Amino acid sequence: MSGIALNHVSKFYHEGEHKVVALNDVSLHVKPGEFVAIIGPSGSGKSTFLSVAGALLQASEGDVILNDKKIAGLSPKSLSKARLDEIGFILQTSNLVPYLTVIDQLLLVKKMTGTVTHADKVFARELLTDLGLGTKLKKFPDQLSGGERQRTAIARAFINDPTIILADEPTASLDTNRAHEVVKLIAKEVKTRNKAAIMVTHDERMLTYCDKVYRMEDGCLTLQS
Ligand SMILES: Nc1ncnc2c1ncn2[C@@H]1O[C@H](COP(=O)(O)OP(=O)(O)OP(=O)(O)O)[C@@H](O)[C@H]1O
Ligand SMILES: [Mg+2]
Repeated sequence: MSGIALNHVSKFYHEGEHKVVALNDVSLHVKPGEFVAIIGPSGSGKSTFLSVAGALLQASEGDVILNDKKIAGLSPKSLSKARLDEIGFILQTSNLVPYLTVIDQLLLVKKMTGTVTHADKVFARELLTDLGLGTKLKKFPDQLSGGERQRTAIARAFINDPTIILADEPTASLDTNRAHEVVKLIAKEVKTRNKAAIMVTHDERMLTYCDKVYRMEDGCLTLQS
């Protein structure tokens, strides 16, 4: 099964005597070329779901399968390689490195997987230009607006050409126009490059760009439309 699949995944947090069921027997398959949204109230388990899907957190029960590979069977080294090569994360806060310029934020990711080639630099410039950051390549994060920082983080998530895109409220710090642009861009990336994407969002207006909408409630996931 290429793309990303979760089979009967549960996640428990242990708070002293207390057990929090953050994910309760969740199953989902997102195929290449498919853009899925997850909505649901605060505390329902959406971010936990993305962290488990992206191998940042281990499932308590069940399997996460990235492009036919069960991640539970991978060594820590192969796991971080899979994360770097196959997953593009877009988080609510952009988490940029303060002392790197916009273009270097992207090239750092390339450096982590090997050497930076001329083609990498061209692709980084192209991505940033596509996202309206063509004139900001040499700026540092504190010289950018919140939306520009977020778009830099999106470009960074795309630089390794990941097969899977996981986005946690990517439009939270954007105005309406930018929010539409950013989600359209994710949708375009999904369709033209055949990626599997999951986006958590509170913004109902963004659901028109998605193929399916799931709802998370108390750790349970159900298909809404
Ligand atoms: N590290 C942790 N330790 C203990 N409990 C946690 C931890 N992280 C999250 N939780 C709990 O797990 C549940 C799900 O949290 P999660 O962050 O996944 O919700 P969410 O749907 O992303 O909420 P929001 O919309 O507010 O971002 C909540 O009850 C939360 O308090
Ligand atoms: Mg969250």
